Amino acid sequence: MKIINTVSELRKAVDAFVQNHRTIGLVPTMGALHEGHKSLVERARRENDVVVVSVFLNPTQFNNQDDLRTYPRTATADAALLESCGVDVAFMPTVDEIYPEPDTRVFDLGPVTQVMEGAYRPGHFNGVCQIVSKLFDFVKPTRAYFGEKDFQQIAVIRAMVAQLGFDLDIVTCPCIREDDGLAKSSRNVRLTPLVRKIAPNIYGTLKRSLDFAQDHSLQQTHDWVVDTINAFPEMDVEYFSICDGTTLQPLENWDDSDDVVGCITVYCGDVREIDNIRYKG
Ligand code: PAJ
Repeated sequence: MKIINTVSELRKAVDAFVQNHRTIGLVPTMGALHEGHKSLVERARRENDVVVVSVFLNPTQFNNQDDLRTYPRTATADAALLESCGVDVAFMPTVDEIYPEPDTRVFDLGPVTQVMEGAYRPGHFNGVCQIVSKLFDFVKPTRAYFGEKDFQQIAVIRAMVAQLGFDLDIVTCPCIREDDGLAKSSRNVRLTPLVRKIAPNIYGTLKRSLDFAQDHSLQQTHDWVVDTINAFPEMDVEYFSICDGTTLQPLENWDDSDDVVGCITVYCGDVREIDNIRYKG
């Protein structure tokens, strides 16, 4: 595996892959890699001649500076994990390398970016689009891999690809969970031992809500999920939206769409966890 730190070296490596007609799989990450990331990398490995993984803690997508400051940084372990997965190129640049000039681009991608994370984390998706569009430009991937844990991020990336006309396939991969159901996340190491024990009730409640939804309205199901999770003193629901899985706009009735997903954000102590579940589709 080659570790590349500069854009010019990355472009050179990519030029050689393209000249040799290699298919390129790109997995963008922010490091602190875990089994969730690994599942994306392994899928990219199976489906492409060449696999490029970026490890870059992108400052422009953090609307909360404390979150950026406390985000785990594990570059050595990340490189070892990627090497063991048979990755060809680990791209691990500095902030100055990616942003030699401030990125002033403002993306207007319509309604999918305005709800949920878009509403509660102003500027977050703009930063995601800044870095992902740069990576698509540098790496020219045949396929790029994203996890369904960040359900809205996928919709935003798809909207960006459509608007900017990138010629690539977006491949989506299922959420990988701990044995107790908690979605794997780089931020889980920041949970206190007590809160770590309680946090699996997020997905536990979402799963139980599939049954509850059988004989309750959408609004009743929404309220039951929020109340059940908020009944744990350690947890505080920021939002729960039962929405259309494509447009991400909130729904009023179960019959309003064939593709229904519930997206939730919960403060567990001071750690913000996100998760989702599919009701239909
Ligand atoms: P990061 O949170 O590091 O996640 C990188 C990729 O791994 C994302 O596509 C995310 O959805 C996926 N992922 C994270 N946890 C997962 C899990 N438990 N199961 C399956 N996939 C999982 O998402 C980002 O970084 C950034 O926003 C990025 C796209 C890299 C842009 O900076």
